[in-house]
Amino acid sequence: MDIQIRKCTLDDLPLLQTIATETYNETYSHLNTPENMNDYLENAFNSTQLKKELSNESSTFLFLYTNEVLAGYLKVNEGEAQTFEVGENALEIERIYVKEKFHDRGLGKTLLKKGFEIAKEKDKSELWLGVWQKNTNAVAFHKSMGFEVKGEYSFFIGDEEETNYIMVKSLK
Ligand SMILES: CC(C)(COP(=O)(O)OP(=O)(O)OC[C@H]1O[C@@H](n2cnc3c(N)ncnc32)[C@H](O)[C@@H]1OP(=O)(O)O)[C@@H](O)C(=O)NCCC(=O)NCCS
Repeated sequence: MDIQIRKCTLDDLPLLQTIATETYNETYSHLNTPENMNDYLENAFNSTQLKKELSNESSTFLFLYTNEVLAGYLKVNEGEAQTFEVGENALEIERIYVKEKFHDRGLGKTLLKKGFEIAKEKDKSELWLGVWQKNTNAVAFHKSMGFEVKGEYSFFIGDEEETNYIMVKSLK
């Protein structure tokens, strides 16, 4: 299988919007109401928001292609771009998404390993991510990749209070 990973630029905005929306729908639509899904998609993936994120030098977006087809993406954050304060010298994996039809072929692992490489290049001491407790597949995947649940925080989906686990992997 031919795999290529490349860094995204502002020119990738339409592609990013498409893959972000598609993978978010595949992952969460069975766990959410259509209203809550639409609210999230409009807020998180509108052009203004994604342009801002793509322009932030403390964030990196990567696209993963398999046989020249876009199959997944990764977003990592350092410094103030992080969505939560976890450690002084940490790198956040904010988004790691592989299209459903490409699951279980090692592509998530390949993207995450790229995150490990970026963290090492930047001399970070730990990697962390927030994952919805109900996303049991992702929790199991991250555990298999060496992350441990180190904390949790609440967030709201509509009126419902939900829990995100904070999972951490030490790089020391
Ligand atoms: C989570 C996700 C990125 C994993 O990617 P993937 O390409 O399907 O996973 P891989 O094939 O690379 O699996 C890598 C390893 O994780 C393990 N793994 C993957 N899913 C697993 C699961 N549900 N339970 C246990 N182990 C799992 C695999 O067995 C494999 O281990 P191995 O190398 O020892 O064989 C992918 O399923 C996905 O995009 N899901 C939807 C989006 C999502 O939930 N993202 C995370 C938000 S925090």
